Formats: sequence, structure tokens, C-alpha cells
Amino acid sequence: MNTIWIGTSWKMTKTLAEGREWATGLRGHLESAHDGRAPAGIQPFIIPSFTATTTVRGILGEDSPVLLGVQNAHWEDAGAWTGEVSVPQAKDAGAQLVEIGHSERREHFGETVETTRLKVAAALRHGLTPLLCIGESAEVKEAGGSSAFILDQAAGALEGLSADELSRVVIAYEPIWAIGEKGRPATIEELIEPFAALGAEYTGRVAGLLYGGSVNLDNAADLLGIEHVNGLFVGRTAWKLEGYLELLRIAAAHVAG
Ligand code: PGA
Repeated sequence: MNTIWIGTSWKMTKTLAEGREWATGLRGHLESAHDGRAPAGIQPFIIPSFTATTTVRGILGEDSPVLLGVQNAHWEDAGAWTGEVSVPQAKDAGAQLVEIGHSERREHFGETVETTRLKVAAALRHGLTPLLCIGESAEVKEAGGSSAFILDQAAGALEGLSADELSRVVIAYEPIWAIGEKGRPATIEELIEPFAALGAEYTGRVAGLLYGGSVNLDNAADLLGIEHVNGLFVGRTAWKLEGYLELLRIAAAHVAG
């Protein structure tokens, strides 16, 4: 059975004090319930704001089983790019993973297939795990074009990678219509076809194929049961530590079968 990835991005939420409390709670839970390791068969990851990266790294410790990520990073290593953070800087701050191409960045901050490709390459160049987010709009879905659209987004971002490089990439399929306050949870039926398409192309070739968008405690188990899904990428439900811990428990029950 593949590793099940269970992760959250805090997006633009949490003060340092709130982040500290969340991370301290997670660490305490893993120590008391799992001897400081990850639950069997599960790869936890958390993606705080840039400002909390070093704080969370300090709390988790250097050899934590929890991967730490950033929500974006520039494709150049350094230079005159005001307001940006590079992959070497993210790594220096303790990050091991870089989220790339979230739909909120594509919609509001000019992220394109071309910039996602450059960022995936930059993350790999520095030994970080790229977490590539893909997903179609409601309009594309209504026109019946979901699978073709997300396959194009993925292919564009992953173009030219060797098999070894591709094996270090995690893909999260996050339909835009299912994300956030304005989204609605996808039904399981709606996700079968896009995951069949993604799975045919990427299962066994990438490190993980995740689902994200209005994941909650009621639908998580069913989402993990979809063929080719081997992880969940979660926003709101995991912003409270109790929600994240419950998702870990649901994933552990899934692993235990
Ligand atoms: P949500 O966010 O779980 O709050 O819908 C998901 C995401 O944007 O990854």
C-alpha cells in the first residue's frame, strides 16, 4: 500500500502564537501516541505562512516525521525579486516541501503553467519536494473538460523531468469549485473520472496523488477510498489541531483497512 499523505496549508492564517500552539500540540500527540513517529503508513505535512516556518521547524525539531513546507517559492535562487522568497531561502528556514500552483495563486498572483514548471524545477534542484496543485474551474467542469484540463496543467508543469525527478513530485488535484468558503464539497462520483485520468498517467510515477477541496471529517474516509487517491490536502478542517488529528486517525483506519 502506498503511503497516505495528510497535509494542511494554513494559507494566510495564524499568528506565531497560534502556530506555536498548533505545532506544539501535534508534536505532543505524535510523542504520546506514536513514540514521536508518524502514524504507520502516513506522511504528515504542514505548510504554515513564511513567517512561521522557522518557529514551526524549531518546535517540530530537525528530525521530525512531519514534513514542513512553504506555500510558494520563486524559481530563481536569489536576486532582485522584491517580495519573493527563493527555494534556498525556504530550505534555510527549515522547509522540505514547496507548494506550487495553488488555484488562489493562479487566480490572484499570476501563476501560470510556465511559472509552475520553473518552480517545480527549482524545488527539485535544491532537494525539496514539489507539491504541485492542479484543478479546473466550474466552467471547464460544466463543459466536460475536467480531465483534459488537469492533465494539461500537470504535463506543462512536469515537462522534461526525468523519471527520478518525477518520482519526487507530489500532485494535489484540487478542483477550484470545491475549494474554500465559496466551494462546495465534490461528490465521490465526480472525482472518479479525474482520478482515473490522473492515475493512468501518474500512479506509480510520482510520490503521491492527493485530493484537496472542502475535505472534512465526514467525507475524508470516502475520499481516501477513491482509486488512485493516496492522500488529502486540507485547508479549513485542519486549521484547528483537533481537526487535523482526526484526519490522521481517519487515515490510520484507512491504512489498517
Ligand atoms: P479547503 O482548502 O479545505 O479549506 O477547501 C483546500 C485547499 O485550498 O487546499
